[in-house]
Amino acid sequence: MKFARWFRFLLLLLIIPAGGFSQSDNTKMNQFIDELMNKMTLEEKLGQLNLPTAGDIVTGEPRKSDIAGKIVAGKVGGLFNVKSVAKIKALQKIAVEESRLGIPIIFGMDVIHGYESVFPIPLGLSASWDLELIEKSARIAAEEASADGINWTFSPMTDISRDPRWGRVSEGSGEDPFLGSAIARAMVKGYQGNDLSRKNTLLATVKHFALYGAPEGGRDYNTVDMSRIRMYNEYFPPYKAGVDAGAGSVMTAFNEVDGIPATGNKWLLTEVLRNQWGFSGFIVTDYTSIDEMVDHGMGDFQAVSAMALKAGADMDMAGEGMLTTLRKSLDEGKASLADIDRAVKLILQTKYQLGLFADPYRYLDEERSRKTVFSPENRAVARKVAAESMVLMENSAGILPLKKSGKIALVGPLADTRENMPGTWSVAAVHANAVSLRDGLSSLEGVEVLYAKGSNLTYDVDLENNSTMFGRSLGRDDRTDAEMLEEALNVANKADVIVAALGEASEMSGESSSRTNIEIPEVQKALLDGLLKTGKPVVLVLFTGRPLVLGEEKEKVQTILNVWFAGSEAGHAIADVLFGDVNPSGKLTMTFPRSVGQIPLYYNHKNTGRPQYNKEGRFEKFRSNYLDEWNEPLYPFGYGLSYTSFEYSDIRLSASQLKGDETLQATVTLSNTGKYDGAEVVQLYIRDKVGSVTRPVKELKGFQKVFLKAGEKQDVTFEIDTELLKFYNYDLEYDWEAGEFEIMIGTHSAAVQSKSVQWEK
Ligand code: BGC
Repeated sequence: MKFARWFRFLLLLLIIPAGGFSQSDNTKMNQFIDELMNKMTLEEKLGQLNLPTAGDIVTGEPRKSDIAGKIVAGKVGGLFNVKSVAKIKALQKIAVEESRLGIPIIFGMDVIHGYESVFPIPLGLSASWDLELIEKSARIAAEEASADGINWTFSPMTDISRDPRWGRVSEGSGEDPFLGSAIARAMVKGYQGNDLSRKNTLLATVKHFALYGAPEGGRDYNTVDMSRIRMYNEYFPPYKAGVDAGAGSVMTAFNEVDGIPATGNKWLLTEVLRNQWGFSGFIVTDYTSIDEMVDHGMGDFQAVSAMALKAGADMDMAGEGMLTTLRKSLDEGKASLADIDRAVKLILQTKYQLGLFADPYRYLDEERSRKTVFSPENRAVARKVAAESMVLMENSAGILPLKKSGKIALVGPLADTRENMPGTWSVAAVHANAVSLRDGLSSLEGVEVLYAKGSNLTYDVDLENNSTMFGRSLGRDDRTDAEMLEEALNVANKADVIVAALGEASEMSGESSSRTNIEIPEVQKALLDGLLKTGKPVVLVLFTGRPLVLGEEKEKVQTILNVWFAGSEAGHAIADVLFGDVNPSGKLTMTFPRSVGQIPLYYNHKNTGRPQYNKEGRFEKFRSNYLDEWNEPLYPFGYGLSYTSFEYSDIRLSASQLKGDETLQATVTLSNTGKYDGAEVVQLYIRDKVGSVTRPVKELKGFQKVFLKAGEKQDVTFEIDTELLKFYNYDLEYDWEAGEFEIMIGTHSAAVQSKSVQWEK
């Protein structure tokens, strides 16, 4: 028996090419999979649909866990979040040598913003507006994870969100569909490269399909309700871009879409994803999202498992509903063998394309792992990307960049924590390897760093505990608030400049980390007030995983550098920016509101029939505004300062009347008028003045990150064609409509100049 299995395996090695996978291999692949499926029992087929959590294997021996038994019985198609070549090899060996058909396992992981070399949280990454660097970060993540035996990542997350109360905004690329789509493409390309069967690529997953970023009230997992026209125009594009870029898998969302949970929503998974978009990879559910349909009120465990399969879901993450109930549903005529076969085939095809049948151990190479994972080269890129992601919010007194001399008082609960640097969803990170801000500043020559914690994270102990889970403790201090403040002020008084490391802990954003109050916690505000009273220059280094309400800080503090959670090299990268080795060029990809009551607040909104006329926040009766708050954001989408200054010339258009497929060139001359070399993200927005449906007041349609030496200037030209004018109309047809368009170019969404063109069909 065992010999027969080995023989079959050897045969496989002969038939399957070990190198790349091309279209011409399709027939061979199909033949191979058909033959394999002919041999599979129903149990073995259901096993392929099963993606259990690694759970007890992460720290324990596979042999001793019941996972081993399941693998032997052919009940495991994939496993996720197992880390290390040795552990993965042991598990793969059981699958290949001890299960009846020897089908290899696919190993997934949440490699979200890097592996051990951790890049900034995705929201920070997006603030770099640097597609090449973003792609490179995904490439490095793939190099490292694949060297450690991982074949599949649950990234990119392409959920648009306009609600900073939702903690998972940290995992996405912000509020804009155009930028979000560009980033989705860059990440898929970075992970998958051109050839999935290469040893250094990962299968990408577009998630969470769909609309997960629009839960009511910003409360995670909450109900979503949205018009189809909004889905298609504003929320779907980044998912579609990831699919069009060739992502091999898509993950369903926890929320409902149009009254039916995404995981069981046939319109969404089959009609939109498969039929309209032509997605040909496999669909994995989110973690237990099949079981959760019981709580959504869609029926019992058996019913919801069949519902997910029928809707189009192929693999069941962590729930085992497909494994344990589909046989019964099949017997009772509630599920079809055709659907089961469809799912099995898609999963086996993916394994084939990854080269796992040719060599199940191809990703398992200790030597490569040692050389690649957390290598000095990768860390250098992580440091560069981290610095690029930071957004200079205020620098009115020109306190930054700092001089590399004198005494710096480093104060604040986020100043001396390595654990909080990688940011949420960095499962492969080794916390101890991260560079804290204190580490980063202390490594500089010529600077003396005086440190005091200054305050705890929050007054509320429970809130601090819940915000520092998964080994992210800040080591709550037992001293009184007054004692901690006093120590901080002593240190501050001895220094030339104060660096206040304040904001959120890294687990205050991410999954299940929604907040109703998105301000800096009170105890830290009290610390900041104390520091400001010393009269010394204060630099607020802001750690955050989401847009915060920063009205008070904007008023009081002249210098604010938003550093997000910048990854394993955070401390060095922050120092690079603080001391001007890197001139900040990050720009916000999500609006920072004035108050939580304005949410959802986003730049590409509709005009309404009663727009507010004045922009100074003066209340106007019977206009769409608030009695007690401005409409304008505190910091708009696209905003971010530099140590240098940039000037924009007027826009020059190649034509003011266009027809059909003509192309319009819009040009500005950008000048670096300041003292520092630096990069500027030049942004193009378009407004469609009249439509068959209402159109946004502006939409991002292009951007270029331009580096200019001090004193230099350069023409920046955007090519505009009718592709950029298209949208989904009332009947969900994708086309453009003739008429007047406003072409806007500027430094951020609320600082643009504009010119009009007439474009006829
Ligand atoms: C998250 C996914 C993640 C999965 C696996 C879920 O809770 O929603 O984004 O990929 O867990 O860890």
